[in-house]
Amino acid sequence: MDDMTPRGPIALDGPVASGKSTVGLGIARRLGWTFIDTGLLYRVVGLLALRIEPPARSDESLERIAVEAEMRIDSMSVHVNGEDVTALIHSAEVAQMASRVAELSPVRRALVTKQREMAAQAGGSVVMAGRDIGTVVLRDAPIKIYLDASPEARAGRRFAEEHARGTPRTFTDVLADLRERDRRDAERADSPLRPAPDARRLVTDSLSVEQVIDRVLDHVRGN
Ligand code: C5P
Repeated sequence: MDDMTPRGPIALDGPVASGKSTVGLGIARRLGWTFIDTGLLYRVVGLLALRIEPPARSDESLERIAVEAEMRIDSMSVHVNGEDVTALIHSAEVAQMASRVAELSPVRRALVTKQREMAAQAGGSVVMAGRDIGTVVLRDAPIKIYLDASPEARAGRRFAEEHARGTPRTFTDVLADLRERDRRDAERADSPLRPAPDARRLVTDSLSVEQVIDRVLDHVRGN
């Protein structure tokens, strides 16, 4: 480790489609660190919740899922209880369910424990993205970044991603879904989405991914 090697972890928060995964992965690659997108854990619980009958979907059964599911996240691939669910967790339906289960404190508690274990395994050389990383999960992180952009810019990026994946919705649907998930994240009682007081806020509407990564790395290196 030389003087230019920053001390981790890096906490990266922000609303839906603010670029956390793309930027977080880019930063982690440039530093040779691990990237953990914590939204994937909430999506896994959302996916497993959708597989049980609605009447059985009590808070207790969702908590049990969050506690007992054995999750493995490797960059962008996700395994749960040995099953590769990477291709299943990016649907709008799973995202909506993830956003609902994320309101439940027992689910959050279980997932925060898993996230802290994952960060500890990476020995601090980790970029962790989510909604409550700087405020709750890694509140002692020396570097905290809060990425933001207008709802229209974020919906535009998500719309383009869905087109590339071949699962497009209309722009209006993407924007409405994004606003609803943002509202739930901001208004929930437990760990609502907000920048940590010591976070650097970056508004990315008119920036490319590379420009955002460069700005974060400049900040990380104290420039
Ligand atoms: O980031 P992503 O959109 O994949 O996250 C899915 C959902 O999980 C979000 O809508 C949010 O409600 C929830 N989430 C959370 N806390 C995190 C990460 C994600 O509440 N740290």
